[in-house]
Amino acid sequence: MRTQVGIIGGGPSGLLLSQLLHLRGIDTVVLEKHSRDYVLRRIRAGVLEHGFAALMREAKVGERMDREGQIHEGFYIAHDGIKERVNLKELTGGNTVIVYGQTELTRDLYEGRDRLDGIVIHNAEDVKPHDFDTSRPYLTYRQGVDAVRVDCDYIIGCDGFHGVSRQSIPKDKMREYERVYPFGWLGVLSRTRPVSPELIYATHERGFALCSLRSPTLSRYYIQVPLTDSVEDWSDAKFFEELQRRLPEDVAAAMITGPSIEKSIAPLRSFVVEPMRFGRLFLAGDAAHIVPPTGARGLNSAASDIYYLYHALVDHYTKRDDAGLESYSRRALARVWKGQRFSWWMTALLHRFPDSSAYDRRLQETDLAYLFSSQKALASLAENYVGLPF
Ligand code: APR
Ligand code: PHB
Repeated sequence: MRTQVGIIGGGPSGLLLSQLLHLRGIDTVVLEKHSRDYVLRRIRAGVLEHGFAALMREAKVGERMDREGQIHEGFYIAHDGIKERVNLKELTGGNTVIVYGQTELTRDLYEGRDRLDGIVIHNAEDVKPHDFDTSRPYLTYRQGVDAVRVDCDYIIGCDGFHGVSRQSIPKDKMREYERVYPFGWLGVLSRTRPVSPELIYATHERGFALCSLRSPTLSRYYIQVPLTDSVEDWSDAKFFEELQRRLPEDVAAAMITGPSIEKSIAPLRSFVVEPMRFGRLFLAGDAAHIVPPTGARGLNSAASDIYYLYHALVDHYTKRDDAGLESYSRRALARVWKGQRFSWWMTALLHRFPDSSAYDRRLQETDLAYLFSSQKALASLAENYVGLPF
């Protein structure tokens, strides 16, 4: 098989890039390790910045997102028994975010790929990129007993944090930067009316908590837990009791609890690999960088990678202009690091660190007090939360 751009990974990054390129007449093949059902069962975050939403519309898959996604003009930070609002719209001169589950977004992307007869190969086993340091790279994979080869001009690694793309780059040609946090988030999805129409990020001496939502009838709640905890340690009743203890009284009192329909623990990690390109292999999204979920940057950090790559590949194929491909890693990393900084800052501001000193605690308190006493500090938070320009 031959294609122009071979994409490893059928998550949001890989699907969006293949859809955008297809619409500009560029051939792609997406190789996804799992079944479509498996990919669509994963529950991930749900806050989209407008840059990502604009790409979805450009890819002609934004209709349901625009119909069912909720525009949020602000969110709350709860601390010391009160909640204070961050008015995103006012602080950014009109910008907002869209709350729309990543599962739904991935479903829209698959449907978009189907409509255009895009090639997405599921259950592709043992995918491997080859010869990407030459001008003739290719991919191989197995499907049952069949071994398949896909020749291509470029390989794009969109295969997430545990994917094969980054691992195929010689170790001495790249550098990894990492911070692992000493806690995780226990998340619960529940078919209940969300306690607040806008997100509440809460900091409390017992730990961080977040009240989020997917729709007017579907709540998504999180609490910070030690990494040694497992889901079995947390019955629904225990989870809601702990969540309520970490929220201001009026919020806790208004909370409707109900059985969980999903419950999982995610460790928090910051990670970046540099460069994001090796020869004809380009990394994008979680394959190159991940953030703790606190600043809602996960998918939004992938957005700029896809934007830069999309335009770089279109310039290559339509204008024989490779400037975008040459500058990809540098440009992508410049924005990636800003997302890293913001996610780290919000995580540090709102969580309880097991090893923090009394001095560290005072700094955290002062950071919060400064934030809500300075419109400029709040504006900085807001501009990062809605997404910096590409
Ligand atoms: N071969 C083929 N596919 C693979 C391989 C492999 N060796 N390894 C992983 N994959 C697939 C995964 O099954 C997954 O569907 O690659 C896909 C990667 O998708 P994501 O992990 O969702 O990463 P990405 O598309 O970059 O999405 C960005 O934003 O909100 C965050 O972490 C969240 O997933 C989200 C990310
Ligand atoms: C979520 O709804 O899952 C969510 C929202 C905001 C975050 C993280 C997760 O910062």
